[in-house]
Amino acid sequence: MTSTNDIRRSFLDYFASNGHAEIASAPLVPFSDPTLMFVNAGMVPFKNAFTGLETPPAPRATSSQKCVRAGGKHNDLDNVGYTARHHTFFEMLGNFSFGDYFKEQAIHHAWTLLTKEWGLNPARLTVTVYHTDDEAFDLWKKLTGFADEKIIRIPTKDNFWAMGSDGPCGPCSEIFYDHGDHIWGGPPGSPEEEGDRFVEIWNLVFMQYEQAADEIVADLPKPSIDTGMGIERIAAVMQGVHDNYDTDTFKALIGASVSLTGVKAEGDQRASHRVIADHLRSTSFLLADGVLPSNEGRGYVLRRIMRRAMRHAHLLGASEPLMHRLVPALVTEMGQAYPELVRGQALIQEVLEREEAQFRRTLDKGLKLLDEATGDMGEGGTLPGETAFKLYDTYGFPYDLTEDALRSRGIGVDKDGFDAAMAQQKAAARAAWKGSGEAASEEIWFDIAEREGSTEFTGYTSTTGEAAVVAIVKDGVEVQSAGEGDAVVILTNQTPFYGESGGQTGDAGRIWTPEGLEFTVTTTNKPLGRLHAHVGTVAKGSVKVGDAVHLVIDADRRDRIRANHSATHLVHAALRNRLGGHVTQKGSLVADDRFRFDFSHPKPLTEEDIAAVEAEVNAEIRANEAVGTRLMTPDDAVAAGALALFGEKYGDEVRVLSMGRKGGEGRCYSVELCGGTHVRATGDIGLFKIVSESAVSSGVRRIEALTGEGARQWLVARDEAVRAIANALKTSPDEAPARVASLVEERKRLEKELADAKRALALGGGAGDAGPADEDIGGVAFSGQVIEGLDPKELRPLLDDAKKRMGSGVAAVCAVNDGKGAFAVAVTDDLTGRFSAVDFVRLGVEALGGKGGGGRPDMAQGGGPDGSKAADAIAAVREALAKVSA
Ligand code: ALA
Repeated sequence: MTSTNDIRRSFLDYFASNGHAEIASAPLVPFSDPTLMFVNAGMVPFKNAFTGLETPPAPRATSSQKCVRAGGKHNDLDNVGYTARHHTFFEMLGNFSFGDYFKEQAIHHAWTLLTKEWGLNPARLTVTVYHTDDEAFDLWKKLTGFADEKIIRIPTKDNFWAMGSDGPCGPCSEIFYDHGDHIWGGPPGSPEEEGDRFVEIWNLVFMQYEQAADEIVADLPKPSIDTGMGIERIAAVMQGVHDNYDTDTFKALIGASVSLTGVKAEGDQRASHRVIADHLRSTSFLLADGVLPSNEGRGYVLRRIMRRAMRHAHLLGASEPLMHRLVPALVTEMGQAYPELVRGQALIQEVLEREEAQFRRTLDKGLKLLDEATGDMGEGGTLPGETAFKLYDTYGFPYDLTEDALRSRGIGVDKDGFDAAMAQQKAAARAAWKGSGEAASEEIWFDIAEREGSTEFTGYTSTTGEAAVVAIVKDGVEVQSAGEGDAVVILTNQTPFYGESGGQTGDAGRIWTPEGLEFTVTTTNKPLGRLHAHVGTVAKGSVKVGDAVHLVIDADRRDRIRANHSATHLVHAALRNRLGGHVTQKGSLVADDRFRFDFSHPKPLTEEDIAAVEAEVNAEIRANEAVGTRLMTPDDAVAAGALALFGEKYGDEVRVLSMGRKGGEGRCYSVELCGGTHVRATGDIGLFKIVSESAVSSGVRRIEALTGEGARQWLVARDEAVRAIANALKTSPDEAPARVASLVEERKRLEKELADAKRALALGGGAGDAGPADEDIGGVAFSGQVIEGLDPKELRPLLDDAKKRMGSGVAAVCAVNDGKGAFAVAVTDDLTGRFSAVDFVRLGVEALGGKGGGGRPDMAQGGGPDGSKAADAIAAVREALAKVSA
């Protein structure tokens, strides 16, 4: 038997040996097409290469592309499990020519591979061509020698393939395999074509045109080729089975679920095993490509698929979560061809187990409600929409799960009633929000969110993307378009732009179209916490609602923001280690050029604290451990040691960021709940430097810090300053601190010497001199002096000297500095019974235009603003002394 893995390899090898570049499958989330939910054909990643917008990877290429058809336009979810050929996940084998070869070679290769390489019997094959495509008809005829009836002209859209309402398209030719007359069905175009006997195995599309809104608007730059062969179908043919679920891959997956549940894949249980096998593939591949379960958009499609499978696991009587235990079998089957499965295995298992455990908590109750509501219903009955809504809202049953659960009993669901209940709930939410007192002008965001759903954020994994414009807001009102110079807010269905939240600043960048739009995004906000609003100005061209646009964030700026954001997590952990567990985050601001981090701590950090925190954070940076992200329920996250912000509102699921080296119990250095964007490994932060530490309010401190290039530049500036100091001191930077210290010492010494000299000068001009001559006022010795430029600190020592010199008497000195007067008076102890220095000083101060002055009877001091009256101050004391002593 030829295994599915052999078929894939042999297809790719065949085309590689015929000059095709082998291209790895693109991820399931399309980055090149905003209108698509998931990649659903092999050509999707090459769409822009066909239309000439991008250079093709090679003139000819081949790939085995992962595809999902669930949600969006192509939705096969409802049929999976109940038919032989419906899948939510499949692989499309294809060969592509970008203006290189055209019809003749495409047909030649397909025929050669099928009949020569793989040895299929030509008698079993039939082909179709578009009814007007004589060229293709003739080529097939020449190559195969088929009778005319085996080259069927089809006039319908079946043989005109288009990627969607927009994009490349062209007539096509399909190859069918006849599984034999024991199966009901007829060749394509016949009344029995819907039967399963003739199965389309390969579609060759002769890409020639480009469509917009379902109209052909242009020829492609060059006629090209796109082909697609579902590997599951060709595997069935080559393995001699009719049903895709009987091929090797599916047999292995179904075998695993049979052995884990102990329930055979027979009778009513057959569909359940098929659903599980199919959904295991789509959910695992989606998880491996970064889609995570959520209540919106792609994440919700993933959750719907998961829950559908989980109900079937429950139907099989599995008493424990089942899906995650099937992942190893899938990795064995497909991990070699798709290494992302191996890389993502731990995450896939973890998310599946968590989802299943979570869903099981309400599944039983929901199923009971469903039984009660339909207990007396027979075939043809209808479940009320309200009940379906309650199942959705309270028990987490996606609508299609309820439908699926009632399917085997022939009971339908009132979809209109379900929609009405949903609309009612939304109206109630809006009313509650209005009541909360938010600005009425903000209601516009509610309108947009309700109509368009949340913006899907693709920026955890990508810095560019494409999207459809869903709304434009100008001056607070919605508009249909915007032109050059307009300052507007653009909303798209998906975006790599991070909207400001959780302290992280919004992304900047550009939005552009090949038609000439150039929109400068200055920042991105996040109204209602779920819309990403690109704020900016139309620099060139114009934009209207519905346009497909390219989005490019300023990636360098984002890298700096990432580094700063990750550094806040490391610094939080370092502060707790250094200062204690009372440290909790009180706020943060993460910009591109700096960040600040506020935290609870009662006193300033010491220099040693700061140095220790810096050293610890930088050691983690150098350890360069990969940063881990996981989704968990908030409770599980906290149980796993994540630091949560107290009082912060978290949704059903939270992202848990693990950073740094593993310590005791295998826990990472930092584990925090965070929706922000982070570095891939701590080494990307580069360098960390705290540049300030201050108080925000009582008990809350703030650190401001820099990382990476910003930190380096800061240190360079410091280094330059030190060099400048060293140069001025004519020494080396290393010696500079000692030099500065000795200079400061020297200055102190010189200042003292200078003061001494001035004092000596004041006392009489030279060393050993007796100072100013004393006067005799009524028998009391008096010394009065005015000294310009004397430091007021010197007044007291000067007067002490005077007292010593005089033995008995009164001394007054006025120091004049900057036009002001400082005044002091001393009275020797023997005289303090007669006069008080305080009284004399008051008089002098008054003369200087001041008030007050104080001290003790033997020594008092004061000052006044008018230093020009210094002599009057001395005179005032002299007069007073004359009066009292008289
Ligand atoms: N793009 C073509 C298809 O999906 C081959 O059928």
